[in-house]
Amino acid sequence: MCGIVGYIGQNQATDILLYGLEKLEYRGYDSAGIALMNDENIHLFKVKGRIEALRERINHRIHATTGIGHTRWATHGAPSGVNAHPHQSPSGRYTLVHNGVIENYQALKRDYLIETVSDTDTEIVVQLVEKLNDTYADTVKAFREAMRLLKGSYAIAMIDSEDPDTLYVAKNKSPLLIGLGDGFNVVASDAMATLQETDQYVEIADGEIVLVQRDRIDIQTLDGTPVQRAPYTAEIDLSDIEKGTYSHFMLKEIDEQPIVMRNIMNAYQNDHDELSLDPAIRSAMTACDRIYIIACGTSYHAGLVGKSLLEKLAHIPVEVHVASEFSYNMPLLSEKPLFIFISQSGETADSRAVLVKVKEMGHHALTITNVPGSTLSREADHTLHLHAGPEIAVASTKAYTAQIAVLAILAVDTANEKGIELDFNPMQELAIVANAMEVLTDQKPTFERLVNAYLPTSRNAFFIGRSADYYVSLEAALKLKEISYIQAEGFAGGELKHGTIALIEDGTPVIALATQKDVNGAIRGNVQEVAARGANTMVISMKGLDEADDAFVLPEVHELLTPLVSVVPMQLIAYYAALYRGCDVDKPRNLAKSVTVE
Ligand code: F6R
Repeated sequence: MCGIVGYIGQNQATDILLYGLEKLEYRGYDSAGIALMNDENIHLFKVKGRIEALRERINHRIHATTGIGHTRWATHGAPSGVNAHPHQSPSGRYTLVHNGVIENYQALKRDYLIETVSDTDTEIVVQLVEKLNDTYADTVKAFREAMRLLKGSYAIAMIDSEDPDTLYVAKNKSPLLIGLGDGFNVVASDAMATLQETDQYVEIADGEIVLVQRDRIDIQTLDGTPVQRAPYTAEIDLSDIEKGTYSHFMLKEIDEQPIVMRNIMNAYQNDHDELSLDPAIRSAMTACDRIYIIACGTSYHAGLVGKSLLEKLAHIPVEVHVASEFSYNMPLLSEKPLFIFISQSGETADSRAVLVKVKEMGHHALTITNVPGSTLSREADHTLHLHAGPEIAVASTKAYTAQIAVLAILAVDTANEKGIELDFNPMQELAIVANAMEVLTDQKPTFERLVNAYLPTSRNAFFIGRSADYYVSLEAALKLKEISYIQAEGFAGGELKHGTIALIEDGTPVIALATQKDVNGAIRGNVQEVAARGANTMVISMKGLDEADDAFVLPEVHELLTPLVSVVPMQLIAYYAALYRGCDVDKPRNLAKSVTVE
């Protein structure tokens, strides 16, 4: 959701900025722009739509070695060229890009008598800097004071036409990094955007500004106190963020799931084949009397599976909550709650709002994320890393299975700590899962055929299951609707007859999952109910469960871990349905990868 890239150095900035913006495309955007500075001239290019359109709009003959770029996901004001960033101050002296939401922009507009040309909150910021500079005649001071006046979240990069040697950068609650190079420096929302230039990065803390020049950076707090911070090496391989021979990142990421399972096994096992988790996490898990899992979307669906694992293996009661609901409708908490935040990106604003609240209440929090340095990771007491590698496709696949695998390990580790005897070896079972995933990803033509048979031109689809299969049905429906735009619902098999069965008519696709022994008969009964009303039914089952007429039989894995394999056909079905309909698989409409607004 919104991406920033900036460059100051000796090379042509245009290509570096465009490359960076392309690498940030995965975050989701609806317009884009860049500002290039040469001598005292600032050249602004903004478009509604894709980066390709921006590339075509730019005058490539402009030689500029300083510039800032932005991808915008509309919050204040519709997607348009006018609302796209960068925004300029009235005199044209200052040009700025922003990621986040300025909560008090209307008050600032009123108090400082600001007239804007766009509908954005961002334009207020750049105008504010100019107004404050009229008072202070000092850009650094004006920039710092402007940041002090802002309420809300922001990552900002600004250029000043009267000072071509400095990028002005600030951060509060939105991600932003400084990349260090030899004779140049870069700024980016995500290291992926500038990995081609450098792997050395410096974090910026909330409430800091940075003056970035080609050969130095000067970090300071909002009261001007200098800050020293050592760089770190970004451990992302450039090949992790390239599609390689794949036509889509989503397909690549579905295929990577067996490797991710093996990475997780390596990461959470010591040389003696024992589980190795941070002792502080062990203490937090054994000390709590109830776990509250907080997450959104796909991560919430992983949390539902996590609840079963934690309750069945570690014997701890668990509640799973959608973050945006929990924030405003908090249940009565137990005496010793532990909060687990599940988030691929670690930046989701809805989850962060809950984290801030529960930390204020003095509760303990653990974040399970794919991005260890992310906001949710930094602000929680503990972090468990997913080891899934960058997930670029907007639709989450490998992060979902990684979240479940890490939750399984956490549940078993806690059971061990509590002295609970288990007949379940997580590493052995995950190894079986990894092999089963490979068997499934090798059968892509089968899933493509199933899509052609069951979902060719459907407007809607239903996924049904019971217990663990119900949770996967929710995820299957989300995957299908977000990338193919087919209206899909995940349902508990037994709940259909309480209303929704009214929607079943001739040819309605109903896909049932049957991987659980206890409810196998019951879910097959539900399939009969809808078939009798004309539904076009497909059963995907686990080996050994009356599979004779089933459309597809999954390789057998431990019953507690079936979601890790049953979701793979669902991901592939969504993928081929989207492909069949000519949808933009990796960048579905209206969606952002990292949802940094509440
Ligand atoms: C769907 C999807 C979203 C995310 C949700 C939470 O494929 O990716 O539903 O799961 O926006 O994001 P994270 O996990 O980054 O907190």
